[in-house]
Amino acid sequence: MLRTHTCGELTIKDKGKKAELAGWVHRRRDHGGVIFIDLRDRYGLAQVVFKPDTSFFKEADKLRREDVIRVKGKIDVRPEGMKNPKMHTGEIELVVSELDVLNKAETPPIEVDEDAHISEEARMKYQYLYLRIPSVQKRLMIRHKAAQAIREFLDGEGFVEIETPMLIRATPEGARDYVVPSRVHPGMIYSLPQSPQLYKQILMASGFDKYYQFPRCLRDEDLRADRQPEFTQVDLEMSFAEEEDVYRVMEGALKNAVKKAIGVSIKTPFPRMTYHDAMNKYGNDKPDTRYGYELKDVTKTGKESEFKIFKEAETIKMLGLEKELSRKEIESLEAFAKQNGAKGLAWLKQGEKGIDGPIAKFFKESQLKELSKEAGKAKTLLFIADTWKKACEATGRLRLEVINRFETPVKDKYNFLWVTNYPLFEYNEDHERWDPQHHIFTSPTKETIPFLEKDPSKVMGRLYDVILNGVELGSGSIRIHDSSLQEKVMKVIGMTHEEAETKFGFLLEAFKYGAPPHGGIAIGFDRLAALLNGTNDIREVLAFPKNKNAENPMDGCPTPWEEEQLKEVHLKLGETALKATKKK
Ligand code: AMO
Ligand code: AMP
Repeated sequence: MLRTHTCGELTIKDKGKKAELAGWVHRRRDHGGVIFIDLRDRYGLAQVVFKPDTSFFKEADKLRREDVIRVKGKIDVRPEGMKNPKMHTGEIELVVSELDVLNKAETPPIEVDEDAHISEEARMKYQYLYLRIPSVQKRLMIRHKAAQAIREFLDGEGFVEIETPMLIRATPEGARDYVVPSRVHPGMIYSLPQSPQLYKQILMASGFDKYYQFPRCLRDEDLRADRQPEFTQVDLEMSFAEEEDVYRVMEGALKNAVKKAIGVSIKTPFPRMTYHDAMNKYGNDKPDTRYGYELKDVTKTGKESEFKIFKEAETIKMLGLEKELSRKEIESLEAFAKQNGAKGLAWLKQGEKGIDGPIAKFFKESQLKELSKEAGKAKTLLFIADTWKKACEATGRLRLEVINRFETPVKDKYNFLWVTNYPLFEYNEDHERWDPQHHIFTSPTKETIPFLEKDPSKVMGRLYDVILNGVELGSGSIRIHDSSLQEKVMKVIGMTHEEAETKFGFLLEAFKYGAPPHGGIAIGFDRLAALLNGTNDIREVLAFPKNKNAENPMDGCPTPWEEEQLKEVHLKLGETALKATKKK
C-alpha cells in the first residue's frame, strides 16, 4: 500500500511515530509561511504540516482542493490552542518530510463539503465528487452494514443465497416492464424482473426450502422519493412456512440490521394491526405510529344529526387537534383535503363552553356531548364524510398533512409494524374489475375460499406488510401452491385459462409435480437503508441513482439507438421516437 495508516486513525497514542498517508487535499490554510492541509480519505481527516525550510515547500504551496497526494512524516502533538477536540485526529498532526503529488485536480465543479448547497442535477452529474463527501459515504457505509447484518442473520437461519436471472419472461408486480430486444430471436423480447417472484416460488418446488437474495428489481413506473426504476430488495421465501415463521425471520433480520448499522436495539416481535384497524385509525395501510392523531368514527352521531351531508353519508371520520386552529388555517386544510380526495371538510371547535361552529346547529345537545366524548381534549374537530374507504383515506391524508404542518418531526424512533388481514382483492372502479391487493400468487384464507366465486370482496388474503415509520418497507404472503386454486384466483381478476397458461404456464406446471406449501416476503432494501439514515429519499443511499426523469446525468443514459444496434435487434424506430431522438 502507498500508506502505512489511514487519515482517520492516528491519535495521540501514535505520537513520535513515522507514518505515510495518502488522500485528497480537503482544506488548505496558510499560517505565516507554514502550510496546513487537512488530508481526507474514507476514514477521516488528518492535519499535515509543511514547513518552509523543506525542498518541497514550493510544490506544497501549489496544492489545491482535491489534489491527490502522498506524504511521509512524523506524528507530532499539536501545540496548545491548535488542538481540535471535535476531530478524532484533532490532537496530532503529521510533520511532512516527503511529498509525492499523485494527481493534480482541476477546480471541482461541486464542492466536496458537507455544508455545500448542491443542486440535484449537478450532484448527479458529478456523482463521484458527491460521493467523496464524508456524510454521503457514511450513508453508504450504513447501507453496507445493514446488508451484511441481514446476510449474517439469514445465513445463521440456514437460508441459501441464490441468484435468479435478469433476462426473463414478465413477472407481474403491477408496474410496466423494462424490456430487452433479442438479437437471436427477431421480434422477441426478454423482460427485466420486477421481482424474482416466480423464480423464488419455483425454487420452493425445487426443494430449496429457505432461499434469499438481494435482487435488483426493475420497474418502469412514476418515480418518487422512495421509488427508483431499479432498486434492491431483500427477497426471501420459505417452504412449509406459515405467517408466524416469516414474521420471525424478517424481524430477526431487521433487528440485526438496525443494531449493526446504527447501533439501535429494536424490540421484537413487532406490533401488529389489521388492515381494517389501520384504515380506521390512521386512514391508510401504512400507519406512521410515531404520531397520535387517531381518527375517530362518528358515523352514528353524524347520521343522527340534521346535517344533510352527514345524514346521507356511509361513514363520517373525525380528526381532532389539541391546537385551536384559526379560520385561515382551517380553510387552508379544507383546500388541501379537497385536492386530496375529500368532497369537503366540515369543522367544529371545542372550548370551555362546549362545542361550537358552523355545523353545530344541526346537532342536538346530546349529540354534541357524544362528539365531545370522542374528541377528548381536542379543540379543533375536522370531519370528512364519504364511503368508508374514501372517508378513511381522505382523513388519513389530512392527518399526515396536519402532522407535517403542526408537529415537530420525531427522529430516532423506529416504529416497525406488521399490517395483516387484508382482503385478497381490491375493486378497481375505473376498470370495473377486481385487482389483487398484493399479487395473484397470494393464498386466500381457508375459510374464505368459498367466496371466490360468490363474492370476491369477502375473500381474505394471507398477506402482510411490514411498515417502518409510515413507509411500506415490504410485502409478502403465503402463496398458493395448488394449480387449481391458482386458476380460480386468476379467474376472479378476469384472467382466462389460456391467458394464465401463456403468462405463467411454467409456474402452474411446476406446481403439478409436488410443490410444497410456501410463503415469503420482500423488503425494499433502499428504503430500509434510507430510513436508517434518517431520510425518506432512497437516492441518498444509492451510489448511482437516477433523477426523477429516470435519467443518469453522469453517463447520460438513456441514449438514442445507434443504427447498427437497431439492425442487430431487427427494430425500426417509429415517428415519435425518431422525432424525440433527433432533438437529443
Ligand atoms: P412489492 O412489489 O410490494 O412485492 O415490493 C416489495 C418492496 O419493494 C420496495 N419497492 C421499491 N423500492 C424502490 N423503488 C421502487 N420502485 C420500488 N417498488 C417496490 C417496497 C416494497 O414494499 N414479489 C413481491 C414480494 C413477495 O411477495 O415476496 C414484491 O416484489 O419497499
Ligand atoms: P356546504 O353545505 O356545501 O356549504 O358545506 C358545508 C361544509 O361542509 C363545508 O365546510 C364543506 O367543506 C363541508 N363538506 C362538504 N362535503 C363534505 C363531506 N363530504 N365531508 C365533510 N365535510 C363536507
